[in-house]
Amino acid sequence: QKPAKAATIQEIRARKNQTPIVALTAYTTPISRLLDPHVDVLLVGDSLGMVIYGMETTLGVTLEMMCAHGKAVVRGAVSSCVVVDMPFGSYQESQELAYRNAARILAETGCAAVKLEGGQEMAATIAFLTARGIPVMGHVGLLPQSFNSQGGFRTQGRTAEAATRILADARAVADAGAFSIVVEGVVETLAAEITNAVVVPTIGIGASAACDGQILVTEDLLGLFSDFTPKFVKRYAELGSEVSVAVGAYAKEVRARSFPASEHCFGAAPQAKRTEET
Ligand code: KIV
Ligand code: NA
Repeated sequence: QKPAKAATIQEIRARKNQTPIVALTAYTTPISRLLDPHVDVLLVGDSLGMVIYGMETTLGVTLEMMCAHGKAVVRGAVSSCVVVDMPFGSYQESQELAYRNAARILAETGCAAVKLEGGQEMAATIAFLTARGIPVMGHVGLLPQSFNSQGGFRTQGRTAEAATRILADARAVADAGAFSIVVEGVVETLAAEITNAVVVPTIGIGASAACDGQILVTEDLLGLFSDFTPKFVKRYAELGSEVSVAVGAYAKEVRARSFPASEHCFGAAPQAKRTEET
């Protein structure tokens, strides 16, 4: 049984070498409410650009979108640690810009921390934020915001050189003060190496069970998003098919005038009452 108070970033950080951290994405209040009793971390991922706005990459996601959805998820969360992604362009330019935008996300949404993508090149920014009261979750390996420079959504760290660089990225992010690190789309040996090398928990996605926790995009595991399904996704339900069946039945009944039926309709009030009302 989880306590009726939000998990703190200190509690998440202390889960290193303990039981696995359970994390999922959430973008809305109803999904946040449904997931909250089951997970430790709710991530308002910028994957929302692709999953609920139909974008082809996460590059078009704005700070306003992240703040709006972050607020919605915080409203639905009781015991989870809510983390909100910093969108593309909101933190890469300078430490000051990153601080201003991260502070806005924390202030407007009430979330516990922000997440940003990048390794050694972002370490100074992570140190700047964490030293000034903004907890940061790191993100190394496959970086969806680097879609153009990484050549699409591709597994990272396949060569010895790339693996060495990603390991150094994770070390730099941890040393800079991140309280945990998402490790995305890397080979299992590298995920294990990173997890052994850093003192903070690693949260894997497409990075094997060697990590200290796991995250998935909720719509992927529920079968609600099928634009593409990466190899690392396990579908725990087929809600997309269920929605299709339900909506098909509704459409058929409306066309046949069998919905609404009498039990869904307001009957005529008794004559006396009716007069009173008018
Ligand atoms: O945006 C997102 O959903 C993410 C997770 C998949 C780690 O960054
Ligand atoms: Na993201």
